[in-house]
Amino acid sequence: MRGATGCLALLVFLLCLLSSPPDLLAKPLKLQGPLQLPSPLAVMPLQDPAKVELGRALFFDRRLSGDGTVSCAVCHIPDEAFADGQKISSAYPTNKHWRHTPSLLNAGYLDVFFWDGRSRSLEAQAQGPIHSSFEMNLNPRYLVAKLREISAYQQLFEKAWGGGVTLERIVASLAAFERILLVSDSPFDRYLRGDQTALSSEAKQGLEIFFGSRGNCVQCHSGRLLSDQKFYNLGVAELPELISDPQHRATRNFFLAELGLEPMDRDPGYYAVTRRDEDMGAFRTPPLRQVAETAPYMHNGSLASLTEVIEFFDRGGGDDPNKSPLLKPLGLSSTEKQALEAFLQSLSGSYPLVRAPRPPGF
Ligand code: HEC
Ligand code: HEC
Repeated sequence: MRGATGCLALLVFLLCLLSSPPDLLAKPLKLQGPLQLPSPLAVMPLQDPAKVELGRALFFDRRLSGDGTVSCAVCHIPDEAFADGQKISSAYPTNKHWRHTPSLLNAGYLDVFFWDGRSRSLEAQAQGPIHSSFEMNLNPRYLVAKLREISAYQQLFEKAWGGGVTLERIVASLAAFERILLVSDSPFDRYLRGDQTALSSEAKQGLEIFFGSRGNCVQCHSGRLLSDQKFYNLGVAELPELISDPQHRATRNFFLAELGLEPMDRDPGYYAVTRRDEDMGAFRTPPLRQVAETAPYMHNGSLASLTEVIEFFDRGGGDDPNKSPLLKPLGLSSTEKQALEAFLQSLSGSYPLVRAPRPPGF
């Protein structure tokens, strides 16, 4: 009964999304002066409610992990913008992670996944955490065998796919669920749709800095998600605890060895994917919608607040021989820094309030 109510609530939500997606159906944007503002988000192809409902059940189900304690939602917490508020992600019990958990909001629009871009689709990505020794630590073939014995899942798969449990269907259902996690109706979106009053004058000044020559953040934070999905070394410092902690070292060295790389005292970022020296320490430009809710920041969570991030860019980034030449000291005044922060705050809108369904019983 409770399952049915959850199902109904989700359907109602999906219908609402369809009937009033304000920033999704917005008209094309006219350029405001010389600034290259992005256009609003495109329409996301409609997701099949049965697949979304199955994906939601899987997303919250701790039986997707080896010891039954870790679900996707343990690290991508719905009430924390689908991030987790920690510097370094939590991990499979007794192990430690080595990177910061990104938000899943708008992830359906990405073409390149993970801080180092090693995955190219939501479907391919979802297999990663299930078998990762430091995330969910479960053999995916064993997961399929387990779910095949759960009659409630048999029904959910039948309804969504007209057939039984397979790994392809598991990851495709998770992806369908993730594709409804969209941010809508932020003050910035309303401004892009032509509502001049949506941004305070401070946020408008911040917008000019972001998209204009003062800050030139748009060199990398461009497009609808405010990310070019390319990779740059900003000189973000390693966390001392990652370098010295043996469990973190074990995770990092295991990750590298799996890719055929020698142990290193740093996170190589995109280098692990391309093996080109110029990509050492480069990470994907993160999307910035809802960014005010996903502190701390960067691939290792080393910057605690937006204020710290702005100070970092104002200094021209960190210290690394491979640092991107696009970063230069900006010399922003304290008023300009506050304006930039007010603009970043204006990128937050609403997103689906997703609740865990009752786990389908055996
Ligand atoms: C133990 C914590 C943990 C669990 C459990 C977990 N994730 Fe993640 N997730 C992370 C971390 C950390 C990253 C970034 C890793 C990296 O870039 O190397 C990530 C990255 C992602 C990304 C890429 C986002 C982006 O911006 O590129 C997606 C999508 C994602 N996870 C979905 C899932 C799904 C679906 C599940 C469940 C099957 C899941 N995660 C389980 C911690 C976790
Ligand atoms: C050269 C490209 C580039 C420029 C220019 C740039 N950024 Fe970034 N930004 C990045 C990359 C890459 C990261 C992630 C770096 C990492 O994790 O090591 C990042 C991270 C961030 C983050 C943290 C997001 C998160 O989820 O962790 C914020 C906020 C941000 N940038 C805002 C800005 C602002 C504001 C400006 C202009 C003052 C700016 N950026 C200029 C590439 C850039």
